[in-house]
Amino acid sequence: MKKTLLITGGAGFIGSHVVRLFVTKYPDYNIVNLDALTYAGNLENLTDIEKAPNYTFVKADITDAAHINAIFGQYKFDGVIHLAAESHVDRSIVDPNSFINTNVMGTANLLNAARALWKDNWEGKRFYHVSTDEVYGSLGDTGLFMETTPYDPQSPYSASKAASDHIVRAYGNTYNLPFVITNCSNNYGANQFPEKLIPLFINNIKNNKPLPVYGDGKYTRDWLFVVDHARAIDLVYHEGKNGETYNIGGFNEWQNIELIKLLCVKMDEKLGREAGESAKLITYIKDRPGHDRRYAIDASKINKELGWKPSVTFEEGLGHTIDWYLSNEEWLNDVTTGNYQKYYSSQYSNR
Ligand code: NAD
Ligand code: DAU
Repeated sequence: MKKTLLITGGAGFIGSHVVRLFVTKYPDYNIVNLDALTYAGNLENLTDIEKAPNYTFVKADITDAAHINAIFGQYKFDGVIHLAAESHVDRSIVDPNSFINTNVMGTANLLNAARALWKDNWEGKRFYHVSTDEVYGSLGDTGLFMETTPYDPQSPYSASKAASDHIVRAYGNTYNLPFVITNCSNNYGANQFPEKLIPLFINNIKNNKPLPVYGDGKYTRDWLFVVDHARAIDLVYHEGKNGETYNIGGFNEWQNIELIKLLCVKMDEKLGREAGESAKLITYIKDRPGHDRRYAIDASKINKELGWKPSVTFEEGLGHTIDWYLSNEEWLNDVTTGNYQKYYSSQYSNR
């Protein structure tokens, strides 16, 4: 019997890379991609695999418990990889409730549906919850987030993800649900919605628009190429230990302003502009409220226990990402019209 695996949020940025990897690498799995197709979900991300015989798309909202239960009853999943979420910190500051509904209640609905289907007979089953390093809060100038770092989320987004992590662990502790959780650092790569730093700035540089740097620009993030995150998810799903947490990171810390300057240099080269031209677009604006100063991941556990490490250097990953955005104008134009314009002006006009 073929195994049937549910991937939630598979039309989004990271989810689409995970779906592609599983559909192509595991022809003996049926992969069901469940996604509500919010502004961040886009089936254009998956046109290359949409006709694969082992792939099915189901449009559903994880906050709709009855619908989720019916889907579990229909497909009888053997495993779940849960990525569906509201994922953008700035939006969580404007509308926290949609983050609480999707990230907390939506995760609880999936856990309840898994319990009802599997009837506490967990043999061969697995619930994989994809989470973020932001649950650990903010670091000072030194130190790294470890799996044992106490949770200290600071934004409505990270608080909702932290709550969902706690609920997954509580189901493991109370009902013996076999789960794994990973907490990953900032991803970049193809198909990321251009409200996040790297694709937003590539798009703005291309269009000669200001590059809105929050605060002093000296905030630090640890960047990982999305395909390497998908590889880690594959490994943890198949070889991770039940009940364990694994941190995933790029060993690749950058202060925002240094990363932005690098991006400007690369974009000048790619667009055939004079050196220094794109950097003139850098504009400091009002800071993000409650902005976490620094994230940095200690990914030594997944490295030592499962042998994972990033396969792509930042130089290669960034080059590939820029090339993808410059050669996928239609994708970029499709997602930056209509509501995106409204979002952009309300987010940036008064700062
Ligand atoms: P994304 O915003 O690009 O995609 C989220 C997907 O979830 C979209 O396809 C959207 O349509 C879907 N979705 C949203 N609400 C839904 C709902 N109620 N029901 C069903 N589907 C819904 O996000 P992403 O950046 O790909 O992140 C995926 C996951 O990885 C999230 O759980 C996020 O917290 C986590 N994560 C992201 C990063 C990052 O850097 N982007 C890093 C670490 C962890
Ligand atoms: O660390 C993992 C997290 O990384 C994920 O859980 C989130 O889903 C993902 O969105 C990301 O969160 P960040 O808030 O770190 O990503 P973002 O791209 O929004 O911002 C990166 C940094 O750049 C952050 O310090 C804020 C800054 N920034 C961002 C934007 C959009 C700017 O200076 N200007 C901007 O316009």
